Amino acid sequence: MIIKILALSGSSRRGSLNQKLLDIAVHGSRNAGAVVTSVRLADYALPIYESDLEADHGLPEGAKRLQSAIAEHDALLIATPEYNGGYTAMLKNALDWVSRPREDGTSGVTLLAGKVAALVSASPGPLGGLRSQLALRTVLDKLGVLVIPDAFALGMAHVAFDDEVGLKDKGAEKAVANVGLSLCRTAERLANKS
Ligand SMILES: Cc1cc2nc3c(=O)[nH]c(=O)nc-3n(C[C@H](O)[C@H](O)[C@H](O)COP(=O)(O)O)c2cc1C
Repeated sequence: MIIKILALSGSSRRGSLNQKLLDIAVHGSRNAGAVVTSVRLADYALPIYESDLEADHGLPEGAKRLQSAIAEHDALLIATPEYNGGYTAMLKNALDWVSRPREDGTSGVTLLAGKVAALVSASPGPLGGLRSQLALRTVLDKLGVLVIPDAFALGMAHVAFDDEVGLKDKGAEKAVANVGLSLCRTAERLANKS
């Protein structure tokens, strides 16, 4: 079975360090045989979640599209920037919209439950956004997403990338790619047992 992975980042900033790190992990997944779709959360144009907005207007088109994208993939590869010790509002907002009931009345949470995920993060600070991973793990755990132990936090990320699409530290680059590879392998094992 060919594993389908949805790759997304909590930052859509131009030149995002997390997007660059995610691209390396995506490469690892593709080398492992997965089909990877890389999306930008900004392209879904999600308003800040608010219950009255949902009650009055239903789910925004972007939320429906993101729900469908998640439904169509086996696994999630997520880059999670750290903002003030947590993960970004953009990422939480996306998860909140996705968790809402779909147009057909089925739960959005069931789209996420049972998916397998891997996390990477990058920050100019020394901890590489590790705290955002911990915070995100708690939320994904609540949503029933199985987060694999393989992860990578890239500290001093503003000086860590080379002039092309890799890291100056080739050992670290391999470790990031291995996160993508492990995600693919874990999803394959789970798929073979179901
Ligand atoms: C509001 C805000 C809060 C931040 N808080 C942290 C933090 O707690 N820890 C950290 O390592 N970096 C923090 N940063 C720095 C980000 O890690 C840095 O801007 C990083 O480049 C963001 O990821 P991106 O390059 O993928 O957009 C913060 C940045 C912003 C804008």
